[in-house]
Amino acid sequence: MFPLRVKRKWEYLRRCVIGGRSHCPNMTVENRHSMDTDPAELIGDPFLPPIHLRRRISHHIMGWYRWGTEFSCYLKMYCGLNKRSHVLEIGCNVGRNAYPLRSDIGPCGSYNGFDIDAEGIAYLQELYAPGYPQFHFTHADLHNTHYNPDGIEAPEHFRFPYDDDSFDIAFAASIFTHMLPNTTAHYFNETARTLKPGGVFLCTFFVRDYYQGKGTNTFGDFEHDCPGFEQSCSVVSLENPELLTAYSLDAIAKFARDAGFEKACTHLYGRWSGKFNNPFNDQEILVFRHGRIGT
Ligand SMILES: C[S@@+](CC[C@H](N)C(=O)[O-])C[C@H]1O[C@@H](n2cnc3c(N)ncnc32)[C@H](O)[C@@H]1O
Repeated sequence: MFPLRVKRKWEYLRRCVIGGRSHCPNMTVENRHSMDTDPAELIGDPFLPPIHLRRRISHHIMGWYRWGTEFSCYLKMYCGLNKRSHVLEIGCNVGRNAYPLRSDIGPCGSYNGFDIDAEGIAYLQELYAPGYPQFHFTHADLHNTHYNPDGIEAPEHFRFPYDDDSFDIAFAASIFTHMLPNTTAHYFNETARTLKPGGVFLCTFFVRDYYQGKGTNTFGDFEHDCPGFEQSCSVVSLENPELLTAYSLDAIAKFARDAGFEKACTHLYGRWSGKFNNPFNDQEILVFRHGRIGT
């Protein structure tokens, strides 16, 4: 015979889990396990956006948590992120990286993210404002052949909506992998302008030098030279060039040099090319420091 205490606990568990009660009303065990159910509903964490907002980056819960946590670690390891840091995220989408940064950046620091995804930015601004007033999200209606084909403004002329010397750290996670060379060059310049002297910039690329040919990577085949930039950039689709872009190391070094950056550490190899053992992220990670050290 089970003691009453155990019986009560069992009854509670049966009602919560087996009997289909959960924090999601009307959810039975059958539909809890349905492939159609968005795990975000089951988890019930408002900072984990619903699937229709996550669709462009990570349907999978693993992808959401893993990616964000990784970038929080990289920012600590390579950029000196601390509670008082002022951080810029270029292309923040629906907050996959902001998610863990909530506990990394305190009220004396700040986080600013911008993106061309209007719906994602509206969602984030409303969500974060009450509990995390040091987090700000800004929308920019910029053209991108993949993410915003109806966008009005040309990104290669976009002035980041921040003052000079505003940030200690800037990062762009999987942004230059969806951007054409003129815009990438301009974004390096704008990042340099808005970073404080000596500020650190962490960004990811598909480094074309490591591409091993058709069928060798899961993202896509970089078989086309980007028209007008044959020496520096390849794309997977000529019809939709910003679907995926890969840059040569020389081109990346030039973006950095022209904007006044110097290499802050050896770059970290990515998994995408299949070329390296023990890769860090899916993509290559590069870290630069702005050369205007102190004034
Ligand atoms: C692969 S997602 C990465 C999102 C986010 N950085 C992350 O790590 O979860 C690429 C993002 O780049 C954004 N994007 C594309 N062109 C942009 C531009 N010119 N300026 C800012 N964001 C841009 C897209 O809207 C999309 O959110």
